[in-house]
Amino acid sequence: MAKVIKQDKINERTYVLWLEEKKKPEPGQFYMVYPQDGAKILGRPISVFDYVDGKLGLLYEVVGEGTREFSRLEAGDQVRVLGPYGRGFHMDSDKKAACIAGGVGLAPFIYLSRFLAGKTPIYFGTKDDTGFADYLKDYSIELISQVGGYITDIVPYEDYDKFYTCGPRVMMNVVLKQCRDYEKDLELSLEERMGCGFGACLACICQGKEGRKKVCLDGPVFTKEELEHA
Ligand SMILES: Cc1cc2nc3c(=O)[nH]c(=O)nc-3n(C[C@H](O)[C@H](O)[C@H](O)COP(=O)(O)OP(=O)(O)OC[C@H]3O[C@@H](n4cnc5c(N)ncnc54)[C@H](O)[C@@H]3O)c2cc1C
Ligand code: FES
Repeated sequence: MAKVIKQDKINERTYVLWLEEKKKPEPGQFYMVYPQDGAKILGRPISVFDYVDGKLGLLYEVVGEGTREFSRLEAGDQVRVLGPYGRGFHMDSDKKAACIAGGVGLAPFIYLSRFLAGKTPIYFGTKDDTGFADYLKDYSIELISQVGGYITDIVPYEDYDKFYTCGPRVMMNVVLKQCRDYEKDLELSLEERMGCGFGACLACICQGKEGRKKVCLDGPVFTKEELEHA
């Protein structure tokens, strides 16, 4: 069980849940967060948004019953979380890197930015950007937001050596194609339905270039060389 420190509301459907956590995660890893309602037995996978001095931040969007329940948690409540799980991002200090995020796919790049040199550019496509720029103003990131349209259209691919991407599958497939065409390094954080989160149930299988992969264990972060498509 983890104790809730506080809950920040970014906008009507996006929150950051801050929990006490002793283990330091790696950027790109995730936690399984369990609803208290016993009828919902499966954990909900949520990426590490930030980790500072024993405080774990999880940024999530309310999309269904589980995340709705999380939004009602208050300081002092206890919540069942397991993790950190999965294989996170690789950091290459000699490469000029940028992130490409769609919607709540922004979440893993804030903690990642703590491990990258300089101010991390994050190309962020969103339906509406209410609250994000303000909430993230103290982080070492440069948030290049686009409301509506395709964020992948405004990325200057030739200016960078390496990209990290997370968001809707259709967006990540465009990024994958661009990085193949421009011969850029790319790591993608995949989203798949999960059961256990640690390799035991096979709920999260995806097709890799060299056979089936468990997103929870072999990923969620994969290189472009490991995948045919996102
Ligand atoms: C590795 C990983 C990291 C993620 N990180 C984040 C994050 O940082 N912030 C965030 O807002 N969301 C994240 N997601 C998506 C998040 O897990 C789902 O939005 C959440 O599980 C929805 O739960 P729910 O009960 O509100 O929705 P419901 O639709 O009621 O959920 C029903 C079931 O489907 C599963 N499910 C529904 N949508 C998804 C989805 N998109 N991906 C995986 N399982 C899903 C739920 O876990 C649950 O078991 C991540 C998913 C994965 C796989
Ligand atoms: S979620 Fe159970 S094996 Fe991946």
